[in-house]
Amino acid sequence: MEDRSSEIVRDISQIKPLSPSAASLLDIASKEEHDLMDLVQIVKHDASLTAQVLKVVNSAAYGFDKEITAIDRAISFTGEDALVSLAMSEAAAMIYESDLAGYSGQKGDLWDHNLLTALGAKKVAEHAKSPLNGDVAFTCGLLHDFGKAIISGFLENTADKVIKALDSGKVADYATAEEKILGMDHCRAGFELAKHWQLPEPLPSVIRYHHEPHAAPEEYRALVYAVHLGDMLAMMSGKGTGADAMRYVLDNRYSDYIDLAENDLALIMMDIDSQFMKIKESMEG
Ligand SMILES: [Fe+2]
Ligand SMILES: [Fe+2]
Repeated sequence: MEDRSSEIVRDISQIKPLSPSAASLLDIASKEEHDLMDLVQIVKHDASLTAQVLKVVNSAAYGFDKEITAIDRAISFTGEDALVSLAMSEAAAMIYESDLAGYSGQKGDLWDHNLLTALGAKKVAEHAKSPLNGDVAFTCGLLHDFGKAIISGFLENTADKVIKALDSGKVADYATAEEKILGMDHCRAGFELAKHWQLPEPLPSVIRYHHEPHAAPEEYRALVYAVHLGDMLAMMSGKGTGADAMRYVLDNRYSDYIDLAENDLALIMMDIDSQFMKIKESMEG
C-alpha cells in the first residue's frame, strides 16, 4: 500500500467553493426544522437558479399548459427534491462530470446513483422507528458518494485487481480495498470535501459513515442507516457507479432503527424509479 491520503487532501483543498446560494440551500435543507418557503427566499436572490427552476417546471415532464413565471409557484410544484438536486448539479458540476475511470464507470453514473440513493433514503426514512426528516435524508443521499469523484483518478487501473481480491475474500468490501490502495476510502474523501465546503452536520457524518453506519455518532445513526439502505436500493436497481456496484456489505443492524419488511423494499424500488425518471426528464428537458 502506498499512502496517498495527503495528496488527496491537497487536491480537495483546490476544489472551488460551492456557490453562495448552493451553500445556503444546503444549510437549510440539512436542518430538521425547515420548510420550502425558506428555500424559496434563497432561490429568489439567485437569477441563474431562478431561471433554471422555471425551465424545469415548464419542461414537458410537468406538462402544464400555461407557462409558469412566478418562482414561488414554480417551487411549489417542483418541491424540495428537485430544487436541491438542481442547485447541486450546478454547484458541483465538476464532480458530476467525473467519468469515474477508477471505477470503470461512466460520466453521469455518479449523478444517477446519488439521486436514486437520495430518493431511496427519503422513502426509507418513512419507516424509521423514531421520526426522521425525509428531506434531510434526501440531501444526505444526494451527496453521499462525492468522494468517489475525488479518488477516482487515484484508483485508475485498480478495478480488476480489487474485484479479484474481493472474489477471493481477501478484502471485505470495496471501501476497504480503496483504503488499502490509497490510505483513504471514498467515504473519508467525501468527508474531507464536506469539511472543505464547510457543510453543516449531519452531512459530514453521513458521508463519512455511510458504509459503516454502526460507527456513526448515535444522534445521526438512524439517518446514516436510511442513506445506507438507499444506497443499497440504488445499486439493486442497477444504478451503481461501475466496478464497485453491490460490492459493499449490508449492515443488518439497521433493523434497530428502521422497520422494513421485504415487500416494502420492492415497493420502494418501484416508487423511487418513477420519481427518478421524472426528475431526470425535467432536468434534461
Ligand atoms: Fe459509498
Ligand atoms: Fe453509494
